[in-house]
Amino acid sequence: MSKLLIHGTKKLKGEVQIHGAKNSTLPLMAASLLCAGECVLHNCPALSDVDTAIKILRHLGCKVERTAGDVVINPLTAKNYDIPDHLMREMRSSIIFLGAIVSRLDRAILSFPGGCELGPRPIDLHLSSLRKMGVDIREDHGCLDCVVPNGLKGAVINLSFPSVGATENIMITACLAKGKTVINNAAREPEISDLADFLNSCGAKIHGAGNSTICVEGVRRLTGCEHFVIPDRIAAATFMTAAAITGSTLTVSSVIPEHLAPVIPALEESGCQVDLYDSSIRISAPKHLSRIKSIRTMPYPGFPTDAQAPVMAMTTLAEGTSMFVENIFESRYKHVGELLRLGANIKVEGRVAVVEGVKRLSGATVEASDLRGGAALVVAGLAAQGTTEVYGLHHLDRGYESIEKNLALLGADIRRV
Ligand code: EPZ
Repeated sequence: MSKLLIHGTKKLKGEVQIHGAKNSTLPLMAASLLCAGECVLHNCPALSDVDTAIKILRHLGCKVERTAGDVVINPLTAKNYDIPDHLMREMRSSIIFLGAIVSRLDRAILSFPGGCELGPRPIDLHLSSLRKMGVDIREDHGCLDCVVPNGLKGAVINLSFPSVGATENIMITACLAKGKTVINNAAREPEISDLADFLNSCGAKIHGAGNSTICVEGVRRLTGCEHFVIPDRIAAATFMTAAAITGSTLTVSSVIPEHLAPVIPALEESGCQVDLYDSSIRISAPKHLSRIKSIRTMPYPGFPTDAQAPVMAMTTLAEGTSMFVENIFESRYKHVGELLRLGANIKVEGRVAVVEGVKRLSGATVEASDLRGGAALVVAGLAAQGTTEVYGLHHLDRGYESIEKNLALLGADIRRV
């Protein structure tokens, strides 16, 4: 079984170019199904989740070409409307294809996406919203069988929680629906705006993406288009925590600095100097980090839940007590047990975690149980004395493009064996 071997306490330096956003690429690939022409996505990251999305599109009958950084999708030959169970299990966010499949084929059959490492992940908001838009959904034996007897129609959707996935599914479904759709309490993540920009380039009429209210005027047809995927703000945040915990100065480039605004105050509170430029950020870490009083994960523009684990890893070596409140997912502290193996001092009570900074971490064998938790173990391993072995790399590869190669280029002593 492959693992990462990290010999810690090496300083990092230089510049790392951030890849395209996983959480934007996936909904963009799903949305391409709506189009009556070819879609070219540039800056697509080389991730296993993107591979799974390609498998899904090919299973549906699309032609998909992948060249370095680009994915070219031709949906004209799409004819199947089911997603096999094994692909749904491979990537929970396959649910994002639901709206696109029913829009294109008036039918969709998917298995119910189970829970994941982060706790129960209901899709009630997706289903109730699509039902309001004219989709009949039969939930049977763990399967969703969806038909559109009288065509899709616009609706006013009031979300009880600004779910990213539900907002994306509704936006996609509304593009070719009859009439107007209004989404109230919509998610405001940058990935939502990126999806709206893509769809509008294909001829959709979406207004207000990035705000809490989004309006979509249904149109009859969408063309294809060329689109450049936004940078991965969570990958950028992860590299910045790696710089912080190793006391390094680093530049993350090909980023949209404003997307990191929810994370930067925490880095500055820990004593890091953060300088913003047009498309890069330079972080300079102090010799000793200070604690971060409290971090509460919230929907955008609040502190992103996906950065919670890497930032927590960084606070394990900070002077003082840092407190985390995970408001988005029920059990997103699976990395804590592994950080304790490295000598961290963390107590968890429900959604609250209290981190007492320690003087040093020491290398150990640890296992990732989810994507961002895995990143936290790598970040901690970079600062731990001695050797850290990280297993569970399939989690990391879902969201980081060759993380060890990029870190090694910055001076880390890390390799995959
Ligand atoms: C997206 O997941 C991201 N995934 C997640 O990133 C991210 O953590 C999450 O948004 C929050 O920012 C992708 O974009 C592929 P949600 P999503 O619907 O869409 C509850 C990563 O590490 N909810 O906003 O699934 C849900 O249980 C991943 O890259 C319902 O109750 O997130 C959760 O508690 C992990 N009913 C909360 O809302 C619903 O119908 C947020 O979920 C839908 C969601």
